[in-house]
Amino acid sequence: MTDTPSRGVTRREALKTTGKVAVASTLAALATPQIYAGEKNTIQVALVGCGGRGTGAAEDALRSKNGPTKLVAMADVFPNRLKDSYGHLSRNLGQQVDVPEDRKFIDFNAYKNAMDCLRPGDVVILTTPPAFRWAHFTYAISKGLNVFMEKPITVDGPSTRRMLKLGEEAKKRNLKVGVGLMCRHCPARGEMFKKIKDGLIGDLTLLRAYRQHNPVAFFLSPPKPAGISELMYQVQRFHSFLWASGGCYSDFYIHNIDECCWMKDAWPVEARAAGGRHYRDNSIDQNFDVYSVEYTFADGTKLLLEGRCMNGCDQQFASLAHGTKGSAVISSNSHWPSSCRLLKNQHASTGRKYQKDIIWKCGPEKSEDNPYRVEWDHLLEAIRQDKPYNEVERGAQASLVTAMGRMAAHTGQVVSYDQMLNCEHEFAPDVDKLKMDSPAPLQLSSDGKYPMPEPGRKTKREY
Ligand SMILES: NC(=O)c1ccc[n+]([C@@H]2O[C@H](COP(=O)([O-])OP(=O)(O)OC[C@H]3O[C@@H](n4cnc5c(N)ncnc54)[C@H](O)[C@@H]3O)[C@@H](O)[C@H]2O)c1
Repeated sequence: MTDTPSRGVTRREALKTTGKVAVASTLAALATPQIYAGEKNTIQVALVGCGGRGTGAAEDALRSKNGPTKLVAMADVFPNRLKDSYGHLSRNLGQQVDVPEDRKFIDFNAYKNAMDCLRPGDVVILTTPPAFRWAHFTYAISKGLNVFMEKPITVDGPSTRRMLKLGEEAKKRNLKVGVGLMCRHCPARGEMFKKIKDGLIGDLTLLRAYRQHNPVAFFLSPPKPAGISELMYQVQRFHSFLWASGGCYSDFYIHNIDECCWMKDAWPVEARAAGGRHYRDNSIDQNFDVYSVEYTFADGTKLLLEGRCMNGCDQQFASLAHGTKGSAVISSNSHWPSSCRLLKNQHASTGRKYQKDIIWKCGPEKSEDNPYRVEWDHLLEAIRQDKPYNEVERGAQASLVTAMGRMAAHTGQVVSYDQMLNCEHEFAPDVDKLKMDSPAPLQLSSDGKYPMPEPGRKTKREY
């Protein structure tokens, strides 16, 4: 690995600074605004997890209006993923991508090598499967790095408790941390949230979230083929395995759950749910095909979530809310644009049928700015201006509430927020010790299939 001169500081000096940051959060607080002053103000970025979202997040970081930024290191566990990501970014971002061969790292320890290329105050992007989030975040904090990490940021009770503590530690050290629940940065939804708070549709009494579409990503997994280890198969197809991602439930449904909780301005206190499998062919992953969840807030308000990955069925990808004086479309087709709007009656729906009932809709173009880009503008602005910025608690709560609905469906029990938070089943306790040749955290059962949730039979653990 080479020294990466930037902002006129050598790596040796940077490492000295790292030690200081580790002991003195007040020093970090003082140092941050000075680092980004003047001409030498390029924020360096390292990418850990060079897949689809990681590549997109790096591009958003490099294109942010609050640059200049530069990508200087990349880490992954599959060489082809890193190669493709580098190819895309270097073709499209030119000199902002400065990642020579000796700053490209492949291994389960590659995240450390990539972060070692940064200096305190730079940014690391954590976009691996969520299972690794707490381990990578721990190292980022020790290096005094600002962080952008993708959702979900935890998959179970123990990793949520750990993440909440890490979030506090990052706060003490004045590190800025963004969490990829980008809808929270959507200006249109932000405007609508204020209108709801102002009482335009009265008190919210019901929310509805839908994510029903064909099987996508690695929702389904057949038995492992030859030529890849069990561990790497599970890491690659992380949506199929609860330890790696929280399954399709946590990975797919968190945004709709989170935006509903945002509008309600609260987290639900318990969940009851049903779910099951219908057509599996030769798939042996841990996901259910359908989930139907009733979340309850402290004031009795319900949030109903319908999740389905199935071909040939009605498709819906939206969040809606109902109040005592009207209703709201929070999002109408995927995450962006939101097309959010308020109606004078209960006709909130995704179609165009009830245009005449609209009493407010998001304004012209600007309020529908790309939230994936806006979240980077906000994070980089906070870094440059040394504003408090830490989305970890909210990200961990959203991840936990999502897991609460999933556990209710998988066990067939009512699960409360506190039960989920204090649940002792940690899916992959040694995820920070994995090596390329380690056994996988999930082993096949004697029938040659992965252990499955069995509601009503396995009631304390999800599998
Ligand atoms: N905010 C959003 O709308 C959004 C959209 C897509 C994905 N995501 C999130 O981003 C994350 C990544 O999803 P994706 O779709 O990019 O998946 P992906 O498979 O395309 O990318 C993940 C990458 O991480 C690599 N990786 C796995 N384990 C690693 C490790 N221990 N160290 C280093 N690299 C490792 C993989 O090889 C792969 O290249 C997930 O948490 C997902 O939920 C968020």
